[in-house]
Amino acid sequence: MKTVAILGASGYVGGELLRLLLFHKELEVVKVFSKNYVGKPVHEAHPHLRGFYKNLKFEDLSLDSILKADIVFNALPHLVGMHLTAQLHEHGVTIVDLSADFRLKKAELYKTWYGIEHPYPDLLEKFVYSLPEINRESIKGKKLLSIPGCNSTAAILAIAPLFTTDIVKNELVIADVKVGSSESGRTPYEGSHHPEREGSLRPYSPEGHRHQAEVEMILSELRKTTVNVSLVPHATSAVRGSLASVHVLANKDVSEKDLWIIYARFYRESPFIRIVYSSKIKVPDTKNVVGSNFADISFSKDKTTNRVTGFAAIDNLVKGAAGQAIQALNIALGLREDEGLLIPPLKPS
Ligand SMILES: NC(=O)c1ccc[n+]([C@@H]2O[C@H](COP(=O)([O-])OP(=O)(O)OC[C@H]3O[C@@H](n4cnc5c(N)ncnc54)[C@H](OP(=O)(O)O)[C@@H]3O)[C@@H](O)[C@H]2O)c1
Repeated sequence: MKTVAILGASGYVGGELLRLLLFHKELEVVKVFSKNYVGKPVHEAHPHLRGFYKNLKFEDLSLDSILKADIVFNALPHLVGMHLTAQLHEHGVTIVDLSADFRLKKAELYKTWYGIEHPYPDLLEKFVYSLPEINRESIKGKKLLSIPGCNSTAAILAIAPLFTTDIVKNELVIADVKVGSSESGRTPYEGSHHPEREGSLRPYSPEGHRHQAEVEMILSELRKTTVNVSLVPHATSAVRGSLASVHVLANKDVSEKDLWIIYARFYRESPFIRIVYSSKIKVPDTKNVVGSNFADISFSKDKTTNRVTGFAAIDNLVKGAAGQAIQALNIALGLREDEGLLIPPLKPS
């Protein structure tokens, strides 16, 4: 049994880590950290977990206390835990980072997308961008895992199989993502506050959304040349769920059967990918994945324009965050990839 500390354990992602890790046979949460809940029991922040974790209380962030655990999940906002991560690395701890602090490979990209001079360019090289369906092999045995963003996860999974073939043009990929309000974390601000969001459907960050950089990075790696991506997220009033519709143009005639073969081959070793392609249902729905680590995926081909669209529906807090983090850690530790994660979605949700 390995021991786990969660930084940002009182947040939404922290809460999902706590919920999911209850089912894990090889990991035990022994430390939980927060700022506003210090000294309080877990159920003060997460009333749905009342009765579990009876002996745990939130602590103030402290290196000595974090080092009591073998593995650290960082579920803090971007930049808050960056220096701590560097210190933890010096102590040889396994770090699963859910923030964006170490996702991009090149320091100059942090200047472009996050407006910061990255203080640890050497560490960027060491972190593995951990999207198991794309780079399972490179995660094995690693101690520094950077977990993709939720919108990036959905967008990449929707279209990645096509970027291992030559059937699409790669001049421009258009990623349209719809995402629920829990994406913004539990502290409300004007755009995420319930009265502002309920009943609303609107785009945000129509240019320069940070997750675009991750999608470009991964699709370019798969295609072995520069791929330009344009990603526009849309805020929905659902609490959970991220749905990506990613459009490309085919440069040759391709049938839906060809697409089915490409997707099925690409994801054949992936226990959390469900290809949704039957005579009755041909597109995924976030309603069918909520609460689970599954990504429901499909595709369509428009004959008149030669457009091909890949679709992916995930729960942003599970496959888009906590579940994916545990999945990646399982692979890194040499455990079953689905250990602790075979939990069916909620329906109705
Ligand atoms: N939400 C999603 O769908 C999603 C998906 C993928 C990745 N992520 C990433 O996961 C991370 C957590 O997201 P979230 O949605 O869980 O955010 P959240 O609900 O706002 O939680 C943030 C957590 O960080 C703690 N925190 C903030 N500032 C702190 C400080 N200075 N010192 C100590 N603790 C501090 C908060 O503690 P208090 O309770 O004391 O404030 C809380 O536990 C972020 O980096 C986010 O980008 C989120």
